Amino acid sequence: MSNSYSGSLVAVRDVDSLRRRVQAWRREGRSVALVPTMGALHKGHLTLMDRAQKMADRVIATIFVNPKQFGVGEDFNSYPRPEHQDFELLNTAGVHLLFAPDVAVMYPQGFSTAVSVAGLSDVLDGAHRPGHFNGVATIVSKLLLQTLPDIALFGEKDYQQLAIIKRLVVDLNIPVDIIGVPTVRDTDGLALSSRNAYLTPEERAKAPALHRAITAAAATITAKGDIASAVSKARDEILKAGFANVDYVEARHAETLQPLQAGEPGRILAAAQLGRARLIDNVAV
Ligand code: PAJ
Repeated sequence: MSNSYSGSLVAVRDVDSLRRRVQAWRREGRSVALVPTMGALHKGHLTLMDRAQKMADRVIATIFVNPKQFGVGEDFNSYPRPEHQDFELLNTAGVHLLFAPDVAVMYPQGFSTAVSVAGLSDVLDGAHRPGHFNGVATIVSKLLLQTLPDIALFGEKDYQQLAIIKRLVVDLNIPVDIIGVPTVRDTDGLALSSRNAYLTPEERAKAPALHRAITAAAATITAKGDIASAVSKARDEILKAGFANVDYVEARHAETLQPLQAGEPGRILAAAQLGRARLIDNVAV
């Protein structure tokens, strides 16, 4: 099925149609960028689309709320799906093609394969969301192989996800350049996220404390080098700001995600629960 509404954006829902479009562009000598999303698009996603347009002749966005990356009791059913609004946003942004498959297209009966990136997937968010990154690695591998783009863009907002995807394309020899895009934030520092929609106005006012705390920790580590106390202070501050629970605040090596040693390139990563929303964020050290 393919639709075309007010602009030039075309939506396809099956792999053959997707491949036909990409092959036609290839015959014209055009370069292709892929931007995978789960929809409920915001300025963070649109920044990825923008960057993709500057780097390639044709941009494909995908919208697929991937059941395999949601755990039991997580928000798969309630995840926002504003399909028409998303279509219009992509159309206005000048994206050329939207691939929005149904679950049965991505996981037909008999589907049995999983991609698992050991090590990187087991720490941080992986430790708190068992199976999550296998679901991400599996769907991203499929999307890359279905499309075979020159480049694919992912946000640093999901820093661990980005590290895992960079690893899997090397390990599986998928011929694509993975481009990381810096986190887009609201003016008060809160990282834009589709899940921010779950916050009440009161919780939204508390939410920037997460970014504030890890930014302060990064500054302390740079100035004084005391990693453990900086991280533990950040945890206290997040709880003091009214978050219900801190899953982790960790200083890690920027690439391996192993515990950070003094002098290495680092990243502070955090996840904490605020009302219905589990918020994640990270900053460079
Ligand atoms: P989703 O959460 O919709 O995010 C899609 C892409 O947008 C990801 O690369 C994510 O890192 C990026 N993104 C989200 N918020 C951002 C922000 N504030 N600034 C910059 N980039 C941001 O991440 C996923 O979907 C899924 O796991 C997916 C990769 C599509 C696989 O299902």
